[in-house]
Amino acid sequence: MRARDVYGTASSCCRGAEWLRGDPAAAGFPQPRHVEVWLVSLDRPPSPAAPLSECLTGAERARCARFATPELRRRFANCRALLRTLLAHRLGIPPAEVPLELGIHGKPFVRSDGPGRRLRFNVSHSAGLAAIAVAADVAVGVDIESTRADIEYDEVARSFFTAPEMAALDAVSGSDRIDVFYRIWTRKEAALKAFGVGIGGADPLQIPLVRVIRERPERGALGASVLGLLDLPAVQGFAGAVAVPAPDWSASWKVWG
Ligand SMILES: CC(C)(COP(=O)(O)OP(=O)(O)OC[C@H]1O[C@@H](n2cnc3c(N)ncnc32)[C@H](O)[C@@H]1OP(=O)(O)O)[C@@H](O)C(=O)NCCC(=O)NCCS
Repeated sequence: MRARDVYGTASSCCRGAEWLRGDPAAAGFPQPRHVEVWLVSLDRPPSPAAPLSECLTGAERARCARFATPELRRRFANCRALLRTLLAHRLGIPPAEVPLELGIHGKPFVRSDGPGRRLRFNVSHSAGLAAIAVAADVAVGVDIESTRADIEYDEVARSFFTAPEMAALDAVSGSDRIDVFYRIWTRKEAALKAFGVGIGGADPLQIPLVRVIRERPERGALGASVLGLLDLPAVQGFAGAVAVPAPDWSASWKVWG
């Protein structure tokens, strides 16, 4: 198989998958081995029943205040409030009472002795858009990136991509090159985030080549662990992927707002 067949381009990925409008208030507890990915604007957020401004904890408000610009503060607050609202619907409690804690490498999780202990989620935000993945019983990682042409992505690739990934990148040119770069990047980020390791917790070079995903999650591996990956359905100007360290699972794609 040639490198460009392995990574493909945006138009060839997630064939048939599309974003459908959804309402988190109507969604029940996630089905086992199913991941819902919610796409939501942080600049024009939906207006759930509980006002977003009332959803943050004191610690989150303090963190929010430390962001440098009003735009960053607004986006952080909206993202955290929307996450809390999504989880609160599943737990039947007010958003501000969702017991969020940080894992050892900073991955937030729900600490609970009740049904909440089965709830898993991960968040990614870029350029005013957030992807929030929610699942039951299986860990999940999601990454979304705005596809900018003005970054030194060849340099970034040389630091983080394996030789086969560099070969995949070098097999294409022009806008396909940017597309393939972000496809590889977001898959690796989603994989790192599924395991919750973050930067320094795993060597991105050790996340091996992962193939274009079509109807079903594709199996790859991180060390000895099985990993399934799906590219997010196309969003103009963005690339993204979701990863679950399990062999069999499915996903649905929802736009909130
Ligand atoms: C947080 C991290 C995991 C992702 O950062 P990012 O891509 O800049 O940001 P994203 O928007 O995708 O994700 C941020 C969210 O991930 C979550 N997060 C934080 N630490 C996490 C971790 N260790 N694992 C999973 N999720 C994490 C948080 O919810 C955070 O949102 P918040 O700050 O609003 O609370 C980053 O610290 C990191 O380590 N990235 C890996 C870098 C790397 O080596 N990439 C190589 C890819 S080829």
